[in-house]
Amino acid sequence: MKVTVVGAGNVGATCADVLAYREVANEIVLVDIKEGLAEGKSLDIWQKAPIDLYDSRTIGATNDYSKSANSDVVVITSGLPRKPGMSRDDLIGTNAGIVKSVTENIIKYSPRAIIIVVSNPLDVMTYQAHLTSKLPRTKVFGMAGILDTARYRAFLAEALNVSPKDIQAMLLGGHGDTMVPLPRYTTVAGIPVTELIDKDKLNAILERTKVGGGELVKLMGTSAWYAPGSAAAQMVEAIVKDQRRVFPVCIRLDGEYGIKDCYLGVPVILGKNGIERVIELDLNSEERALMESSRKAVREVMDVLENLG
Ligand code: NAI
Ligand code: 2OP
Repeated sequence: MKVTVVGAGNVGATCADVLAYREVANEIVLVDIKEGLAEGKSLDIWQKAPIDLYDSRTIGATNDYSKSANSDVVVITSGLPRKPGMSRDDLIGTNAGIVKSVTENIIKYSPRAIIIVVSNPLDVMTYQAHLTSKLPRTKVFGMAGILDTARYRAFLAEALNVSPKDIQAMLLGGHGDTMVPLPRYTTVAGIPVTELIDKDKLNAILERTKVGGGELVKLMGTSAWYAPGSAAAQMVEAIVKDQRRVFPVCIRLDGEYGIKDCYLGVPVILGKNGIERVIELDLNSEERALMESSRKAVREVMDVLENLG
């Protein structure tokens, strides 16, 4: 199996490192536009192999997509990250151009690859990758929900003083402040979370989750990479190993949840064909209203992209 990660910055290099460490693919190619960066980081990850005992080979390339030829999965992390005071949507003009040119190169050398988009604004960059690749929605989708639910699960684990391993959660909507966490579908080892935590504390955690990315931007002056890189790697692993994992993933809805032609996060089954199935939950009226606000917010940014041409 061969996996390419485009963008050897914080998220891309972390993703490649996790993929190598977990031996998800035997060949992992890192590509970046910055001279020497991908070569250097992939060499560094390869030199860690004798210490951490893995044999996945990491290879770097500066803008040379021939090295990525015949990849099974490609992760796009190239693009500007957020700086303090910026929203994800502020990145649209620059990152759309980057995602477009990167996708053209990917498709040229790996026409059958499954593409996972990470660059922000996530939902709309996934749309851009679809517009350029013309791949069906089951083959080009975005990573955000695994990260957003991981933040929610980590906050809950801390509040309840339990292992994060035992927290199961689902979350819908766009990757932004309008994301739709679903406490009704959150359990601690099967116990509904609402039986273990009071409403105010839970609400505070839900609100913190919605701005979880911004919290880290404020602390570090740039956006997060450990959890995002691992989240993208987890999606790659589910595909490469045909695990049929159930994750929230950003996909174009084609009528599910009563929504058409909009990229939003929903639960799906991820396996060797990419998105094997979209799972449709029976939302209550409050959840439906939140989903509609999220749809409107994402649709507005999709319109900005369409107007950019
Ligand atoms: P970074 O600045 O550390 O890395 C980005 C890399 O992309 C740089 O090395 C840069 O040289 C490279 N790049 C720029 N243009 C390129 C091109 N045309 N071809 C190849 N490489 C190119 O940024 P970081 O922190 O890794 O974030 C990457 C992107 O991921 C950002 O857009 C960020 O907002 C997004 N992100 C998305 C998350 C999500 O949940 N979907 C979570 C975290 C970050
Ligand atoms: C995050 O949520 C900024 O999308 C990035 O960390």
